[in-house]
Parts: sequence; C-alpha cells; structure tokens
Amino acid sequence: MGSSRRFGVRWQAQRDTALDSVWSDRSSADPKRRRRFALPAHSKLVLVLLLLTAHCSLLTGCRRDMQDQPKAIAYRENSFYKDGTGSRPLVEGTVPRGYLRQEREYYTGKKSAAPSATPQTQTAATQSTSTPLYPDDVETIPMTITKADLDRGQERYNIYCSACHGMTGYGDGIVARRGFNKPSPANYHQDRLRQAPAGHFFDVMTNGWGAMPSYASQIPVEDRWRIIAYLRALQLSQQGNSPTVNDRGSSPTVREGSSRK
Ligand code: HEC
Repeated sequence: MGSSRRFGVRWQAQRDTALDSVWSDRSSADPKRRRRFALPAHSKLVLVLLLLTAHCSLLTGCRRDMQDQPKAIAYRENSFYKDGTGSRPLVEGTVPRGYLRQEREYYTGKKSAAPSATPQTQTAATQSTSTPLYPDDVETIPMTITKADLDRGQERYNIYCSACHGMTGYGDGIVARRGFNKPSPANYHQDRLRQAPAGHFFDVMTNGWGAMPSYASQIPVEDRWRIIAYLRALQLSQQGNSPTVNDRGSSPTVREGSSRK
C-alpha cells in the first residue's frame, strides 16, 4: 500500500506540471491556439498513465478485501467450531451420490439373507459336497444379460483375465506360461468351478482369491457380471471336453499354443 501511495504522489506531481503547461498554453496570447486546446504529446501520455495508475490502485484495493475476508477452508483448523476444524462432520449414514448400493446381491454377489456366517475357504472346497461350497453367494447373475452384455464380457475377459487364465479359461495364459504358476491361475473347466454359483466368481474378482489380486478397482460391478456371463459361456463351450484337465489349471504350456496352427 505504502509504495503505491508514494507512486501516486509522484504521478500527481507530474500531472500538476502537465496541467500547468496546458493552462499556460490556453492563457497565451494567440486566440487560434487557445481554441484548439492542443495538449502537448507527452502530457497526453502522462494523463493516460495517470488514469491507469488510479484504475490499478482501485483494483488492488478491492482484491485485498476479497482476499482477506474471513472464511472456513475445508479441513483447516478453525476456532469457530468447538472441535477446532473448519469442516462439519458428515451426518451419520451419509452416502456419496451414486454409492447407495442398496441391492446387496448386485453389488456384493451375496444373498440378501445370508444363510451362513461361516467363512468359506478354499480347503472347504475339497471337502464334502453335500453342503453347498459357497452358500452365501448368489446362484445366478442378478441382471439380465443380452448379447451385447455377453460381447462386452468377452472383451473385458480378454483384457483383464486372459493374460493369466488363458483365452479359453484353462489357466494357461501367457503370464502363467512365463512363470506365474505357483499356484497357477485356476482352470475354469473343473467341476468345482463349473458348479460354483455366479456369486463366487464375483467374489473372486471383487476381493481377490489366494494369489490372485482383486480387480474391483479396474472392473466396475456391471462389467464383473458380464465377465461372469462370458465365463459361463466358456464353461459351456468346454462342457463335453477333456476330462484330463486337473484342478489347478492345466500344465501351463500346451492348451493356448495348441489352438494355433
Ligand atoms: C495376474 C494373473 C491373474 C489374472 C489377470 C486373473 N487371475 Fe484369476 N486367478 C489367478 C491365480 C494365480 C488364481 C489361483 C489363486 C490361488 O489359488 O491362490 C486365480 C484364481 C481364479 C479363480 C478361482 C477361484 C477359486 O475358487 O479357486 C477364478 C474364478 C478367477 N481367478 C477368475 C478371474 C477372473 C474373472 C479374472 C479377470 C477379471 C481373473 N481371474 C484374472 C491369477 C489371475
């Protein structure tokens, strides 16, 4: 502020000299010259600069006030509220827009009224077959699947799963063949996975399974169901096929390669 005021004073002095010279021009004897009221070129410049200066100092004056106004900044310390923060806590039960996720079956792949609370582990899979292996998981895909969904599922599967599980799902993708095989990616054409409910696949993709990481952040819920639809198609396509495939994926070498000529 101080410096701009000094600046202003300097220009005021220059303006006064400029005006003086104008007035002395007007009062000079020549009447023609008086009528034309011609400002010397440099005085015009001085006037313009002067106006500009005034304008600028007005503007900065305004900005200062706006800049320094009292306000609460989110999550910054603030003495106004008792808890010392500028943000108010969210009301209990607040849900961000688009995250309500009321349909439990659709968003978690779990039955809405869970029949059992016992966590299912992979070891349980090898045990008795009288009780269902994944009793909490929904049996079927909780959305209608059209041809377009299936196509999208195929596309997503090829992008996200085939690298490990192979294009046909025998667990012989390139990543497995290059060494990610302890344990190797599951072979979908084993009885346990043929019989597994749709919700189990959703669970695997959403939360990961053993050595397999979660794909929840890459694959939105809807696409996960579409991938499952495609997995089912893959399983059906191999239904009558090769009884020799083992539980932990086939030897991760032949299958994928043998489909090429
Ligand atoms: C980085 C490699 C990799 C990718 C990519 C991958 N998986 Fe897996 N997946 C594995 C491995 C390894 C296992 C075996 C994990 C274990 O048994 O510890 C597995 C196991 C599975 C199983 C069997 C779970 C069970 O009950 O035994 C399913 C189903 C499955 N993956 C589905 C998928 C789907 C669907 C995708 C694509 C969204 C996918 N995987 C992508 C590596 C991968």
